[in-house]
Amino acid sequence: MSAAPTVPAGGSEGLAVYVHLPWCVSKCPYCDFNSHTLRGSLPEAQYVAALLADLDADLPSLSGRRVASLFVGGGTPSLFSGRSIESLLIGVASRLEIAADVEITLEVNPGTVERGRLADYRAAGVNRLSIGAQSFDAGKLRVLGRIHGPEEISAAVAEARAGGFSNINLDLMYGLPEQSPSQALADVRAALALEPTHLSHYQLTLEPNTRFHHQPPPLPDEDTLWEIESACRPVLVGAGFERYEVSAWAQPGAECRHNLAYWRFADYLGLGAGAHGKLSSAEGVRRRWRIAHPQGYLLAAAPRLAGERWLVAEDLVCEYLMNVLRLREGFTLAAFTARTGLAAQQLAPSLERLRDRGLMTLEAGRWRASDQGYAHLDGLLAEFLPAAPSPS
Ligand SMILES: C[S@@+](CC[C@H](N)C(=O)[O-])C[C@H]1O[C@@H](n2cnc3c(N)ncnc32)[C@H](O)[C@@H]1O
Ligand code: SF4
Repeated sequence: MSAAPTVPAGGSEGLAVYVHLPWCVSKCPYCDFNSHTLRGSLPEAQYVAALLADLDADLPSLSGRRVASLFVGGGTPSLFSGRSIESLLIGVASRLEIAADVEITLEVNPGTVERGRLADYRAAGVNRLSIGAQSFDAGKLRVLGRIHGPEEISAAVAEARAGGFSNINLDLMYGLPEQSPSQALADVRAALALEPTHLSHYQLTLEPNTRFHHQPPPLPDEDTLWEIESACRPVLVGAGFERYEVSAWAQPGAECRHNLAYWRFADYLGLGAGAHGKLSSAEGVRRRWRIAHPQGYLLAAAPRLAGERWLVAEDLVCEYLMNVLRLREGFTLAAFTARTGLAAQQLAPSLERLRDRGLMTLEAGRWRASDQGYAHLDGLLAEFLPAAPSPS
């Protein structure tokens, strides 16, 4: 697909900042994130200094940007002390303008919640926690290799509230080994009983380079997965949650603004081992990523890049749609042009074909996947790829 690129938007709007902290107590058998078992002591101060040095090196390309969201993810960020998180946030705020209503999220593993630590994060400026619950079934947590039981999840939520957090996400996975629909539903009910504002409900996937991929556990079949989804959906809706993305459910107004920035194809900066960033400028849209291994990252000189790539028209179309089609709100053709710098007419034939097949809808200028299309997003996307077969 080709088109004359114009200047994509991004330069003047809010910036999302992702900070990756790559260490975990142990590696879960399903996880393909850039996470590494911690051996020895955590080089907290050295790592925070490296993150800020990366930021210093990137500042010339960030002038005029204001931080709208910051997400500290991992790995297990909750291994870091409140002091280290505070020096990170002070360091960012002394280098970049921060929006008054900035969303600052930190990922917490319930097995690492030391007394008072979450309150320290709150005092440091973190205002949203994302707690990795995964399941409330002790047996399933064992199979998943988790370092915590169900009680630690409730304790982490109680600690979070006592520490002053009201905006709390719980991560749950479903489609777990030998999981029945009633077990998956019990997990959702247990999560809802803790009254989070947001719930991420991921289907467990077998990712290459994980233990589960090499030795696959017995996973529920397609029919059971469909039953699980059909059972959980009305319970989440009944509890006041809205599904605003394939796996993301939120109380009204509690959508994750940081993740929305990714899904809307806005700009983001990535700091830390293996972190990816995407920035738009008058020259186009550039992706950059940092050295992935923590030791290699720490030993390198800022900006510690492992690679970079200017996105061409085909990448832009594909990446834009791959993200935005996940959102219930869909997209407008004007937003497509603003984000990619490409003319929107080129999408029209594919969009019309998908609408004719009932896979997409157009309402008040917004294109969205229909319920049927939402269930077959890969097929939908294939329609926009050059020489790709159409979904039947
Ligand atoms: C980057 S992980 C970090 C959270 C934190 N380290 C923890 O595990 O508690 C974010 C979330 O992705 C989900 N996840 C990780 N691997 C997955 C997989 N193979 N399939 C589905 N969801 C997965 C889990 O729910 C996890 O909490
Ligand atoms: S704790 Fe989280 S990031 Fe670490 S290995 Fe397990 S799922 Fe991956």
